[in-house]
Amino acid sequence: MVTIPLGRPTVCFVDLNALGWNFRQIRSKVGPQVKVLSMVKANGYGHGATAISKALAAEGSDAFGVATLEEGVELRQAGIRTPILVLAGAYPDQVDQFFDNSLTPVIHALESLAKLDLAVHSRKKALNVHLKIDTGMGRIGLLAAEVDSWLPKIKKLKALKIEGVFSHFSHAENVEGSYTTRQLRIFKTVVERLRAEGIAPSLVHLANSAATITLPAAYFDMVRPGLMLYGIYPSAAMASQICLKPVLSWKTRILQLKKVPAGSSISYGQTFVTKRDSLIATLPMGYADGYSRLLSNRGEVLVNGKRAPVAGRVCMDLTMIDVTDIEKIQPGDEVVLLGRQGDAEISADEMAAWTNTISYEILTSISNRVPRIHLHT
Ligand SMILES: Cc1ncc(COP(=O)(O)O)c(C=O)c1O
Repeated sequence: MVTIPLGRPTVCFVDLNALGWNFRQIRSKVGPQVKVLSMVKANGYGHGATAISKALAAEGSDAFGVATLEEGVELRQAGIRTPILVLAGAYPDQVDQFFDNSLTPVIHALESLAKLDLAVHSRKKALNVHLKIDTGMGRIGLLAAEVDSWLPKIKKLKALKIEGVFSHFSHAENVEGSYTTRQLRIFKTVVERLRAEGIAPSLVHLANSAATITLPAAYFDMVRPGLMLYGIYPSAAMASQICLKPVLSWKTRILQLKKVPAGSSISYGQTFVTKRDSLIATLPMGYADGYSRLLSNRGEVLVNGKRAPVAGRVCMDLTMIDVTDIEKIQPGDEVVLLGRQGDAEISADEMAAWTNTISYEILTSISNRVPRIHLHT
């Protein structure tokens, strides 16, 4: 049992043993020939990028994926030596930082490709890049359908070396549909076209978590899992195909307990009025911690192994819960917002359903004000 440290008790525990377990499940799923690029963007999906990346590097992660230059620099400053792919690519004024920190930019547009090639060439250097192909995600990337127009420009590059080529699936929760099959087919065609023109990237990659679990045809040289590293299934049905362990739990302690008569209103705007004599607990956490205001009168937490509903509106720093039905409750009792307590559990997926979002947003919204405590036994 891990105890919440002294001081403000709203904290996240990050179980690095579970993270290591999840990584090893991926490794055994894809086999030793396929590399694993661990997605640690957005502060390691909210788990603390530095600690997560160090643990994954020790497990043998072949590369890391971040969204921005700054995220990549953070990992380098923490001593991570593994290759790092920066999905946002390089803005013109960032070129030197890419060199200084040995970061690999993604190229997703012809304009930035030409500018970057010129900037690197003028420094009399060479830079590895990964080409992002838009095969149907409709986000960033060179349009696969326009390969005839951009391929000649790729061939003429002076200073950029195409180390990798990749694409991203539109479906993250289930990659079994025909749209994914179509994206896979388009991607293969582009890779073949590149090869036919003498461009042979050593790292061809496509698979997100869902494809890592269910679509070996999308493995190529490397997979790019994110969500599953953190112990969350892209969809519940995948639990039968791989065993993952949740990495993060979010806890606090009861700040104040109040007995109030029926008819008492709780929190801003009188949206919760007690129907009976009630016991209301105030928790030292709120939407500024990333506990969504959409959980007002909708979310639940665990106290003494039982569920207690959020009462009234979630405030910036405080949230009330109705603990009338929970026995032997005391100020200072542990409250679980996400994770297990006894036999009960609140998962990121369940919290996401209450707020009409996805587990990714739940995890990445937990704010910096909440300390992440990394546990390794
Ligand atoms: C380009 C890219 N690759 C891989 C991933 C990982 O996806 P998932 O977390 O579903 O495994 C993401 C996540 O958003 C992404 O943007």
